[in-house]
Amino acid sequence: MSQESGITSSDSDHGHPENWAPDSWRGCTTLQQPTYRDGDHAAVVYERLRRIPPLVTSWEIEALRKQLGEAARGERFLLQGGDCAERFDECTPDHITSKLKILLQMSLVLVHGGSRPVTRVGRFAGQYAKPRSASEETRDGVTLPSYRGDNVNLPGFDQVSREPNPDLLLRGHECSALTLNFIRALIDGGFADLHHPEYWNLGFVEHSPLRAQYEHIVSSIGESLRFMETISGSQAGQMNRVDFFSSHEALLLVYESAMTRQVPRRSGWWNLGTHMPWVGVRTAEPDGGHVEYLRGIRNPIGVKVGPASDLEKLGRLLDILDPEDEPGRITLIHRFGAKEVGRCLPPVLDMIKSTGRTVLFTCDPMHGNTETVEIKSGAAMGRKVKTRKFGHILSELEQAFDIHERSGTMLGGVHFELTGEDVTECTGGARGLVDDDLATSYRSHVDPRLNYDQALEMAMLIAGRMGRTHG
Ligand code: PEP
Ligand code: CO
Repeated sequence: MSQESGITSSDSDHGHPENWAPDSWRGCTTLQQPTYRDGDHAAVVYERLRRIPPLVTSWEIEALRKQLGEAARGERFLLQGGDCAERFDECTPDHITSKLKILLQMSLVLVHGGSRPVTRVGRFAGQYAKPRSASEETRDGVTLPSYRGDNVNLPGFDQVSREPNPDLLLRGHECSALTLNFIRALIDGGFADLHHPEYWNLGFVEHSPLRAQYEHIVSSIGESLRFMETISGSQAGQMNRVDFFSSHEALLLVYESAMTRQVPRRSGWWNLGTHMPWVGVRTAEPDGGHVEYLRGIRNPIGVKVGPASDLEKLGRLLDILDPEDEPGRITLIHRFGAKEVGRCLPPVLDMIKSTGRTVLFTCDPMHGNTETVEIKSGAAMGRKVKTRKFGHILSELEQAFDIHERSGTMLGGVHFELTGEDVTECTGGARGLVDDDLATSYRSHVDPRLNYDQALEMAMLIAGRMGRTHG
């Protein structure tokens, strides 16, 4: 196993693998890519993307990899979350701050319950491309290409909106940069200072059923902070600063390879378009283009695993992506669903244990629990919507904690689709949302997200579970 962990001179020991280049994936079968009508124009966009400034630095990426290595050893917890798909028209100060606020509030609750530092990774600043099960959509006898995220085409159901347009990649880069710039400015300005959790309050939550419990946690953290500062006679150093990292699914390989750069004084290649790219369940073929691309970059990589994943292929995938078993390199994000996690997770854990690898295990309790329901009353009667039940999401998480405990492994993080807004996309939770409430404020164009209350409640329940395990 490599001794490398973080920003040390040994970073430079790792070059890139043999026979690899940022676009060597072009020689492989690559699923889920748009077909651009004007290939020459797409090539011009690619060249432009290759020359524009990156969004993150290799220093930040190494810092995250070090933290993920710590989480794999049980010394930290990973909170990864954000929209299923970001939208260009939601690149606004309100949308960005409300995402930061809910992630900050959840992480505060998790720190309190788990007595471990929490690393925050947003599904943001680049989560603009979606894999789709069907490449076409038919409505009232009209068939058009599926919406694949704002980086590819637009959700409107007409020919012009659905035509893949390479210029959207430039717009996606711009929105990612605007988002990250605003997040960095807020954090540098003290927005995430633990002394001022009141900055993170969201206007509409005054009547939240969880408000009292959350305020209790905030005041007890405030007391601990003041206690430590009194004892040490100074401000609690690092504790008053929190970091955010970005992540998105590495789906559109034209974009990802254009963001893949070399940096001075370090060897190898870095995807400087995000800190932590992940590979989705639909594109994780060991011989496919996505894995070919990811094997050559130095970033930490998320690997989704679902009921359709094959164990032998997963073993090969890990050998390809992490031949040296580097701490923090692989975050295995399992997403089996409440019904399947009991059957599917134990063999995955056994397989990984048999390899002697140390990976960070996290649970995405969203993608295995999606269902479609029909609204039975009100103006939206008859409409079919994708939803997820709070109880199923929680049940998958609770089972995952138990299964890891029995197996001697550790659940080191969680991955959510959520928003800081007051949407009605998932049912259940303290406000008792039911199917017929879904039409009230259903804004997602792809998957249903936990709303503010549901996300905070989920964090409290996980924190309670972490407290019981480690308390
Ligand atoms: C996602 O995270 O949005 C996603 C599509 O996940 P998965 O690959 O696990 O289905
Ligand atoms: Co999703």
